[in-house]
Amino acid sequence: MPTATINQQSITVPDGAIIIQAAEQLNIEIPRYCYHPGLSVAGSCRMCLVEIEKMPKLQPACSTRVTDGMVVTTNSPKVKEAVSGVLEFLLINHPLDCPVCDQAGECYLQDYYMKFGLYDSRMNENKIQRHKAEVIGPHVILDTERCVLCSRCVRFVREVSHSNEIGIFNRGGQSEIRLLPDLVLDNNYSGNVVDICPVGALTDRDFRFQCRVWYLSKANSVCNGCSRGCNITVEANRQRPHHGEGRRVMRLKPRFNKEVNQWWICDVGRYSYKFIDDPSRLIQPLEKKNGELEALDWKSAAQRAVNRFNEANRAAGTKSIIIAASPQLTNEDLFLTRKFFGIDLGIEQIDFRVPDRNPSEGDNFLLRADRNPNTRGAEAILLDEGGFSLAQAIESSGNQQLKLLYICEQDLAKKLGAEMARKFMGQFEYVIYQGSNENETSILADLVLPAATYAEVNGTFTNFQGRVQKITAGVELLGDALPAWQIVCKLAKAAGLAYDYESAGEVFTDLAETVVEFEGLDYEKIGDQGAKIAESAPVRA
Ligand code: SF4
Ligand code: FES
Repeated sequence: MPTATINQQSITVPDGAIIIQAAEQLNIEIPRYCYHPGLSVAGSCRMCLVEIEKMPKLQPACSTRVTDGMVVTTNSPKVKEAVSGVLEFLLINHPLDCPVCDQAGECYLQDYYMKFGLYDSRMNENKIQRHKAEVIGPHVILDTERCVLCSRCVRFVREVSHSNEIGIFNRGGQSEIRLLPDLVLDNNYSGNVVDICPVGALTDRDFRFQCRVWYLSKANSVCNGCSRGCNITVEANRQRPHHGEGRRVMRLKPRFNKEVNQWWICDVGRYSYKFIDDPSRLIQPLEKKNGELEALDWKSAAQRAVNRFNEANRAAGTKSIIIAASPQLTNEDLFLTRKFFGIDLGIEQIDFRVPDRNPSEGDNFLLRADRNPNTRGAEAILLDEGGFSLAQAIESSGNQQLKLLYICEQDLAKKLGAEMARKFMGQFEYVIYQGSNENETSILADLVLPAATYAEVNGTFTNFQGRVQKITAGVELLGDALPAWQIVCKLAKAAGLAYDYESAGEVFTDLAETVVEFEGLDYEKIGDQGAKIAESAPVRA
């Protein structure tokens, strides 16, 4: 554990730590282009030069290890002159694209010029012109004129995605990033090169020219694309708070979590947010009358639903009712689903496992075949040993006399196929669909209850490792859509029960006191990096 001094402040770091990391711990900013903590050290850009006592030349902070007694200065006139000189070299041939560049506002050339540059240009010659705005893959555009040749993107495709589509070609002033012959940047992690490119050389085709970054709001969340639960920020256009005025969620960006996704997310998750602002969103309760769906208010909708539950129970008992829950729901949603339907109404036939005729595939990095963010939470909260199996009920479709089916956020038609879904749903006298978007299944329902998406709610998901992670609302609720736990509260109140939860946090407190696996957890302990549930403890209620 060497102890060094950086700008007169003492710091002790683990053996092998480099100066740039030690300085970060002291909140001292050392500029960098090529250094990225998730990649090997290239030491090529020379932006991170620092002065070290007893060393005649400046040294790169990204490749120099801290030694005991080392005295480092990052802000001396000598260092400032060197950094400013490096920046001047890097900008010699850089185009004046800022007004039309998507990176403006989060570009390290802009930021460092304002912090460490501020020199007058001495460049009278014409700038070297290079390839501009080339599509190099389904998600990424390359503008080589803006590139500072930091090689982060090249190291990413070598070391992280192992797909090797790009490299640095030619020598000296002619060096530039190019695709390898006959290849395109088409791997499942290609969007990450846009995140790590410190300048506007690699931009995202999906986000390009959609929104200036200073209009974005950012909410910490968790990707709902698979059971990995990669940590993300949901970034929304603050100028478009309401539906119907264009898309609100503009992009998803990875958020560092050492235990889950490090710095990365896959492209499946990154571009999976379009349903949030899709015109297919359900924004008011609907009831089928004479074959047409008609709007109604929440009070009437909740009362209709509860009346149907009571009628079915009176006529044929709870065995005539099935609840198809979903691993897309949060732990809070699932807990109240179990509490109201399972305990208060006494319905035993609750399950979230719908067989999928076209199962997805995972890869050997982050993406998992299970495309649900909360399967582990649903297992902990809903499953009883030897309990009800939705798969078996679907298998034996046609042999049963059933009254009521309540579907939460499951597109049965997509998973089972339209014919099988119709056969299964056709056995019930009444079908209620609770979900965020219209689909083939919602169209078949008698009553539709509009639910919020994960980007509009607070709550938690439990990933496949048993890590409970928080999601926070990045955009407002749309129309009359409500978080699923609030829909359950409405139903419970219509049934005359006191469900007075004011927030998802209150529901979680109740969950942690009831379900053994969640015991001892609260939102504070979960924090922004998650916390693990107890392993395989039995469900108490
Ligand atoms: Fe670095 Fe971006 Fe150039 Fe790649 S394209 S070398 S990440 S500046
Ligand atoms: Fe150290 Fe580039 S960040 S040389």
